[in-house]
Amino acid sequence: MDLFNSLVWLPFLLLLPLLLIFKKKTQHVNKELKNLPPSPPKVPIIGNLHQLGALPHSSLSQLASKYGPLMLLHLGRIPVLIVSSADAAKEVLKVNDLACCSRPKLTGVGRLSYNYIDVAFSPYNEYWRELRKLCVLEIFSVKRVKSFRFVREDEVGSLMDFISQSASSSPTDPVNLTEKVFAFSGSIIFRTAYGKSFRGSEFDRRKFYELIHDAETVAGAFCYDECFPGFGWIVDWISGHKGRVDRVFRKLDTLFQQLIEDHRKPERTKHEDDIIDVMLGIQKKQIEEHGHAWITKNHIKAILLGFWSSGDVRSGGVSSTTNGSVNAWAIGRDPKYWKNPEEFSPDRFIEDTMDSKVQRFELLSFGGGRRGCPGMYMGTVASEHLLANLLYCFDWALPAGTKEADVNMEEQTGQCLTLSKKTPLLLVPISQASH
Ligand code: HEM
Repeated sequence: MDLFNSLVWLPFLLLLPLLLIFKKKTQHVNKELKNLPPSPPKVPIIGNLHQLGALPHSSLSQLASKYGPLMLLHLGRIPVLIVSSADAAKEVLKVNDLACCSRPKLTGVGRLSYNYIDVAFSPYNEYWRELRKLCVLEIFSVKRVKSFRFVREDEVGSLMDFISQSASSSPTDPVNLTEKVFAFSGSIIFRTAYGKSFRGSEFDRRKFYELIHDAETVAGAFCYDECFPGFGWIVDWISGHKGRVDRVFRKLDTLFQQLIEDHRKPERTKHEDDIIDVMLGIQKKQIEEHGHAWITKNHIKAILLGFWSSGDVRSGGVSSTTNGSVNAWAIGRDPKYWKNPEEFSPDRFIEDTMDSKVQRFELLSFGGGRRGCPGMYMGTVASEHLLANLLYCFDWALPAGTKEADVNMEEQTGQCLTLSKKTPLLLVPISQASH
C-alpha cells in the first residue's frame, strides 16, 4: 500500500471511535424510546392537549382503552404518564412512589398556596415531610377529629330540622340535596378551621362560597405557562388569567389575615380549639423552644386555604404528581374489578370484607402512597354521620313525574379543581314518622 492510499483511510480510522460512540448512543436512545409507554400521536407545540375534552378524566379513560393502562401524553412540552388501571397504580403508588410523589407546580396553585408551602401542594422534600408529620399529629388525629363532634352534631341537626320542616309543610316539594350537602360540608370546614359559624356571624355564606369557587377555578384553569415554559406566561398575562389569580389571592389573603387577627384577640371566647388556634399554638411553642418559628403567618394562611382545596389535588378524579397522573375515576369503573361499574349499587360493598386501612388500588377515592389523603378519617366521619341521619330519619322519593332513569349523573364540565354533578340531585323527603 502506498503512502497516498494509507492517508485516504486515516480519517476513517480516526473517526471510527466517534462512529462507535455515536452508534452506542443512538442504540441507547432507541432502547429508551422502546421502553417508553405508548403515546397517542401528538401534534407540534401542543402535543396531546387537543385530545383532552371538557371532561379530562373521561377523555383520558377513552385514550387508555386504546393505548393501555400506562400511556405517555405530552401536555404542550410537558410529558405526563397517565395511569389507568389498579395494577399500574400499585406499581406507581407503592413500588415507585418515592420517584413519583412530588406535585406538579401549577402556576395558579403556586400563588394561592403562598408559593407551594401548603402540605397538599408542596413538592416532596424534607419540608413537606416535617409539615405533613405536624399536620397528621395536630390536625388530622383521631383525638382532634373527635373534638369537633359538637360541630358535626350541630350541623347535621340543623339540616335534619330543615328537611323535617320541608317534609311536613310541603310534602311533595323536593329538596335540593346537592346544594344542602355542599352547604353542610362548607359549614363544617368553616367552623372546624376558622372557629366561626355562618349562622349569626358577619360572614356572608354566599360570598364566601363564591370566593372559594373562584379560587378552585383559577387554580384548576388551563395555564399556558405550565405547558409552554418560557413564553406561556405572556399569553396568561394577555388573557387576563394572571390578573384573575392575583385578585382571588388578595381577597383570600385579606380574609385569612382578618381571621388570624380575630384569633389573637385576648377577649375571644371559644368552645374548642379550631385549626387556627392549633396552628397559632404550634407557632408559639416553636418560638418558646427555639427563639423563632418556622410556621409563619403565611404557612397558617396556606393551610387554611388547603382545607378547602386539598381534597381536590386531583382534577376531576385524577390525582396528579410531577411525573404522572392516576385516573382514579377510570380505575373505579374498571369492569375487571367492578361488576356493572356504571350501576349505582352501594350494596356491592355489603359483602366487602377488606380492612379500610389497607390500601386498595382499585378504589382510590383517597389517593394512595405518601401523598394519600391525611383527612380521610375527618372526611369519612362527617360523611357517615350525615348519610346515616339522612337515611334513618327519612325515606326518599323522586319528584312527581320522574323515573330513576331520568336522574342525570353527568358531571359538570369546565375547568375547576373539583368535579360536581351537572344537575343538582332533587329528592322528596318522606318523614319516617308519617308511616
Ligand atoms: C370524603 C372526603 C375526602 C376525599 C374523597 C379526599 C380525597 C383526597 C385525594 C384523592 C387526595 C389526593 C391523594 C393523592 O394524590 O394520591 C387527597 C389529598 C389530600 N387531602 Fe383529602 N379527601 C377528603 C377529605 C379531606 C379533608 C376533610 C381534608 C382536611 C381538612 C383533606 C386533606 C387532604 C390533604 C392535606 C391532602 C394532600 C396530602 C399531601 O399531598 O400530602 N382531605 N384527598
